[in-house]
Amino acid sequence: MADTGMQRLEGRRAVVTGAGSGIGRATCERFAAEGARVACLDLSLAGAEETAKILRERGAEAFALACDVSQEDQVGAALGNAVAELGGLDVLVNSAGILHFVHTHEETLDAWNRVLAVNLTGTFLACRAAIPHLLASGGGAIVNMSSTAAIKAHPWAAAYSASKGGVQALTVELSIEYGRQGIRTNCVCAGGITTPIHGAFELPEGADRKLLRRIMPFDRMRGPEDCAGVIAFLASHDAAHVNGEFVRVDGAMCS
Ligand SMILES: NC(=O)c1ccc[n+]([C@@H]2O[C@H](COP(=O)([O-])OP(=O)(O)OC[C@H]3O[C@@H](n4cnc5c(N)ncnc54)[C@H](O)[C@@H]3O)[C@@H](O)[C@H]2O)c1
Repeated sequence: MADTGMQRLEGRRAVVTGAGSGIGRATCERFAAEGARVACLDLSLAGAEETAKILRERGAEAFALACDVSQEDQVGAALGNAVAELGGLDVLVNSAGILHFVHTHEETLDAWNRVLAVNLTGTFLACRAAIPHLLASGGGAIVNMSSTAAIKAHPWAAAYSASKGGVQALTVELSIEYGRQGIRTNCVCAGGITTPIHGAFELPEGADRKLLRRIMPFDRMRGPEDCAGVIAFLASHDAAHVNGEFVRVDGAMCS
């Protein structure tokens, strides 16, 4: 477990979606290292269980729940069960996400809809289910995973870019609507983080390879723990006056 010497999340009750892999798993590990109790949600129950097991082996309190964030009933049930088990809620992290690359003129409506359903609607559904519990706790923090794709053109990723732009807009909207009631909502615009999501990366046929460097900072790729540290900061009291912010974690890719 990362020994940061910090315990900024001591006793905090956290739900993390997409917890079974990559940035979501690294976030669960960092949260646990900083004292949080964590509900690990993922479409892959095996992935979520593996994350929860890693945390418990390190002495933290954690459990796994299966949840497809694009399904309204599953999100409602999983959030309800997580909050019941945790005894309340202080932090929600939306890290569940999918990506595929295709020429936009060849994108099917089904594929477009699936990306929007998971990345954007899934984030909305989890926020909607979490907000009453955060309000009941007197406030809390939401951290959403956006992407450099929302800031800088990423070729062959129309649905993904649109979904992450939507996540940014949703984030800033929530920050104003619920900020005065103590809920801070921020997002992380990641880029070039080495995780299994890159397995989805397949250049479409005939794609101009010169455009590749826009989305892959090959010489500056970093691990998911570099995102997790920023997410932990945004979830913590250290970020008490940070609300409606987009934090780039991209090694200056968009600078
Ligand atoms: N890795 C990067 O460079 C990068 C860059 C920008 C943004 N992001 C975003 O960060 C987040 C995490 O990505 P990652 O790199 O850790 O990828 P990852 O593939 O390692 O993890 C994504 C997780 O989301 C889960 N998931 C997928 N569909 C789901 C669904 N319908 N319901 C619940 N869980 C679902 C997967 O099972 C997986 O565990 C995503 O939102 C991604 O778009 C990643």
